[in-house]
Amino acid sequence: MIPQSFIQDLLNRVDIVDVVGKYVQLKKGGANFMGLCPFHNEKSPSFTVSPTKQFYHCFGCAAHGSAIGFLMEYSGQSYPDAVRELAQSVGLSVPEERDRLAPAQRAEVQARSLALSDAMTRATEFYRKQLRSAPQAIQYLKSRGLTGEIAAQFGLGYAPDDWQGLEPVFGNYRDDAIAGPLVEAGLMIESAEKRDADGKPRRYDRFRDRIMFPIRSTKGQVIGFGGRVMGQGEPKYLNSPETPLFSKGTELYGLFEARHAIRETGYVLVVEGYMDVVALAQLGFANAVATLGTACTAVHVQKLLRQTDAVVFSFDGDAAGRRAARRALEACLPYVADNKTIRFLFLPAEHDPDSYVREQGTDAFAAQVRDAMPLSRFLLQVVSEGQELRQAEGRARAQYEAKPLLQSMPAGGLRLQIVRELADATGTTPAEIEAVCGLASDPARVGRFAQPRPRTKRQAPTGLEQRVLQLLMRYPQLSSRLDADSRALLLEDEQADAEVLAHLVSACDELRGEVNFAAFSEHLAQSPYAEVYANVRAAVLREEIDEEPAEQEFDTAIAKLLAGPLRRELDMLQQSVIMGTADEQGKSRMRWLVSEINRRRQLG
Ligand code: UTP
Ligand code: MN
Repeated sequence: MIPQSFIQDLLNRVDIVDVVGKYVQLKKGGANFMGLCPFHNEKSPSFTVSPTKQFYHCFGCAAHGSAIGFLMEYSGQSYPDAVRELAQSVGLSVPEERDRLAPAQRAEVQARSLALSDAMTRATEFYRKQLRSAPQAIQYLKSRGLTGEIAAQFGLGYAPDDWQGLEPVFGNYRDDAIAGPLVEAGLMIESAEKRDADGKPRRYDRFRDRIMFPIRSTKGQVIGFGGRVMGQGEPKYLNSPETPLFSKGTELYGLFEARHAIRETGYVLVVEGYMDVVALAQLGFANAVATLGTACTAVHVQKLLRQTDAVVFSFDGDAAGRRAARRALEACLPYVADNKTIRFLFLPAEHDPDSYVREQGTDAFAAQVRDAMPLSRFLLQVVSEGQELRQAEGRARAQYEAKPLLQSMPAGGLRLQIVRELADATGTTPAEIEAVCGLASDPARVGRFAQPRPRTKRQAPTGLEQRVLQLLMRYPQLSSRLDADSRALLLEDEQADAEVLAHLVSACDELRGEVNFAAFSEHLAQSPYAEVYANVRAAVLREEIDEEPAEQEFDTAIAKLLAGPLRRELDMLQQSVIMGTADEQGKSRMRWLVSEINRRRQLG
């Protein structure tokens, strides 16, 4: 965990105008800066950056956030990565790292990773140039139906048929200082047994006579390669080994290239092969990415869901494809949420997406995507596969198979729906399924995307309450205007859903010293009420309100809000007087309530 105080400090030092300005051309317009929104397609600017609030907000697509949020959205980085990048830009180091590594070590790690990046960039350039003068490689790509344009877009290259092909780029392989980073980057192999005449291990290129597919990080840096033989040969694809830059289980091929299309189409298509990604991009599905010959992992899923709310996995229709789909299902379950959709597409057995779209056309493939199977249905299929649901044993077995899957899902609407369907299919009740599968609403297992369960039915705060939240978020010091009576009445009111308000008030109370809106709202975004706060924040960003009118409005709103609980309590006490059960304490409370109601009526 990165301490909140550090985030506060960090956001005080960076200027969001600089951060956004690196990627978006901004023009000053009034108090804010304006530009074309990088998150949706537009011709006239509706994207604003507020230097006073240290926030960005798009009136077109409602994207908004702090400098940290911007980096996450824009480059698909995780929260810690975005914090790290920002920290680096202002010369801070993130505390948890600060503690782990001594400065000298840190500098060394940085220098090494820089050397690796540099080697990858130069190799990519070299392979690209080689492709131009390799007619057989060009011919191969053409035979696979690819255009020069798409090859350029994905930075495809060619590794020449040469044991020391990279030597002209990097220098003498005998030189340890040259060979070191190349070996570490996975571009060069150092033979353990074979030695040259001078006793040095034999060093040679990993990739020879192959079409090169550079694998980029979400920031666009080349971190690995896949190399395909032209025609027959083993292995068909040779991949970079695990290096400090590259790990197969966490990277997705094509994610960097696909990021705009993912945003535009609103979903990401996950396929199995390099060629599928490139071919689909050429034929109109630029939102495709591929796992790198490995099963889909939890990290993959998290990465994907950071980019979009909708994921469509495509698998071959054969047994291997179904196995892969099942692994993907398992990787997804902990991250499902009611505002995300995950679907599974199964192609005919003899096809992969590349061959399918070429043979059947884009419309046919688009129809496949449209008709892809929802996760819920696939899960139910998986658990009842091969079971005879007309027999008690088959039904029990299906429940048994479902147990671990349901357990790994966060409690939420979708799980409930699946439980219902499973109950129907196996002749039980949802409550029985929950009991059999041990699905008691255990808050510790509620996933990170799940909503907090409200105590009462009323969910999103509306009207006045919403307004109070907005004013408090903008000017947290307003919380000091709430006296003990108001707090007791407002925050402990059983009838109103006061959880969020209570949470915000105490968060405001805790703030000390200068308050930074961006930092405060990042803090709130880490709370269980993140979704509610996101809406509040969007409203705050849409308006300019000075502190004084905010104070007046706050007082009035509180007065009105209190009318409800005051009235209710008074009614109850009056009832008890009528019933003859009121005691002295109750009567004095009544007198106080009446005077409060009158006083507040005058205020409001
Ligand atoms: P496929 O064998 O389905 O290949 O492997 P493909 O993507 O359809 O490629 P083409 O159309 O024959 O050129 C799917 C993925 O599995 C990984 C690669 O990531 C490949 O894209 N793979 C496959 C390897 O890493 N090594 C291999 O030898 C084969
Ligand atoms: Mn293929």
